[in-house]
Amino acid sequence: MQRRPFFYDITLRDGNQSLKKPWSLDEKIVIFDKIVELGINAIELGFPASSQMDFDSCKTLASRANEKTLVSVLARANKNDINRALDAIKDAKCARLHTFITLSPFHMQYVLNKESDVVANIAIEAVEYAAAKIKEMGKNFDIEFSVEHFGDCSSNLDFVIETLKKVVEKGATTINLPNTVERYRPSVFVEMVKKVKEALPDYVVISVHNHNDLGMATATTAESFFAGATQLECCLNGLGERAGNTDFNQVAIALHNCGIKLDIDLSKIYETALTISQMSKVKIYEKAPLIGPEALAHRSGIHQDGAIKTKEMDFGAYRPIHPTLIGRFDDEKIGFTSQSGKTAIHDIIKALKYPITIQESIYLTPFAKALAENKGELSNDEILELYFDKICDIKGDFELISFKPIEKGVFGLFFNYKKEQKEVIGSGNGPLDACLNGLKKLGFEVKLEHYKQYSLDGDKDGSSARAMSEISILDNNNNTIIARAIDTSTPQANVKAIFNALNLLK
Ligand code: KIV
Ligand code: ZN
Repeated sequence: MQRRPFFYDITLRDGNQSLKKPWSLDEKIVIFDKIVELGINAIELGFPASSQMDFDSCKTLASRANEKTLVSVLARANKNDINRALDAIKDAKCARLHTFITLSPFHMQYVLNKESDVVANIAIEAVEYAAAKIKEMGKNFDIEFSVEHFGDCSSNLDFVIETLKKVVEKGATTINLPNTVERYRPSVFVEMVKKVKEALPDYVVISVHNHNDLGMATATTAESFFAGATQLECCLNGLGERAGNTDFNQVAIALHNCGIKLDIDLSKIYETALTISQMSKVKIYEKAPLIGPEALAHRSGIHQDGAIKTKEMDFGAYRPIHPTLIGRFDDEKIGFTSQSGKTAIHDIIKALKYPITIQESIYLTPFAKALAENKGELSNDEILELYFDKICDIKGDFELISFKPIEKGVFGLFFNYKKEQKEVIGSGNGPLDACLNGLKKLGFEVKLEHYKQYSLDGDKDGSSARAMSEISILDNNNNTIIARAIDTSTPQANVKAIFNALNLLK
């Protein structure tokens, strides 16, 4: 059977400890419930020995959890922290004691100021003590041991592995390998994870906990899974000390895209991310993968074309997932800049519910590009203004002055042709026919293929609705030319459209 990742959330511990204003208990309850709803397997509630407030919130959250979610609390490798931690989770249905100490040569020497065998003994004794206490409490809580700064242990990895074997003998069933400060390449860390996995008994769950100092924590965590780490410690929105912890969303989606089955309700990711951002006051940056406001924006013409052609597909030309997978329903954003092209114009105008053909989009593109060169990205209103100006009112040799009824079926048409005033009386079966007949009399024959009417807006505030006429005519080479125009009167819109079409004829 395929191995599934076991997601261990550290938003309420590593995430919370890094906030400018750590969360109150009420806020932690909201976040805790969100994490449970996502389907995350385990939640680290906090660090009970750090303060009375932390102890109290761990205690409340521990009793809130049901048996499906494992809850865990952090303790340094000393009796006082362990007692406090176990006291905080004693009412939980399914719980874990998580203890840690560094085994990195640098940290043992300069921060703990202790010899390595002294530190190893502290680790082993802490786990032994925790196991005995849990037994005494009559609970079946398990124990996780973390090698703080594991990423810095490449030079003493054999010593670390020997210590971990003893820690496991004393009762730890999860061994967590943190990249407490990300300094090197993912593959260096992943190789170390592999070695630990190979050295420990199979029943021991290997976990990774990667900080994101160089921005590679997602890669390190996803690759560690394939190297044998089953527990993945992540933070919602990548919160956490300094540049944060591994971003849960990114890892979950990377594994999902690799065909790994998850227990997670992916459709809750986006909404949860917005809540976490609001509650942590840590903004989702524009370019944040998957959840950033810009994560679905396409501005280059080539990307826009591919994105629009694959819009409805799960596998998009220029996106890693379909946004609805994570519950994101804002469309892929097509922004028009000087780098964009006809497909963007077409898509934007269509999205604004106005008709436009690809030929018209091609015609409009240079005008939009020229404007965007000065302004940067154009707003939808600016594009629409261009559409009205350049598509619905085409300037050229023909300039309509007026088209007025004289009597039933008879109309007077006044216009300029190459700046010279023309006037003619046209009659026919309705205004459009009369206009075409009038033009024909003056030698401007128009071969009408079809015409179509759109009602653009309702009767707002008593003002009349505007009509759009779309006509298609044939030029001398029998090519179809589409033109359109807008007016509050349909006959006027038709005639204006004829004049726009005349101006498009070469
Ligand atoms: O980053 C780290 O090493 C930690 C440990 C306490 C697990 O947060
Ligand atoms: Zn950490």
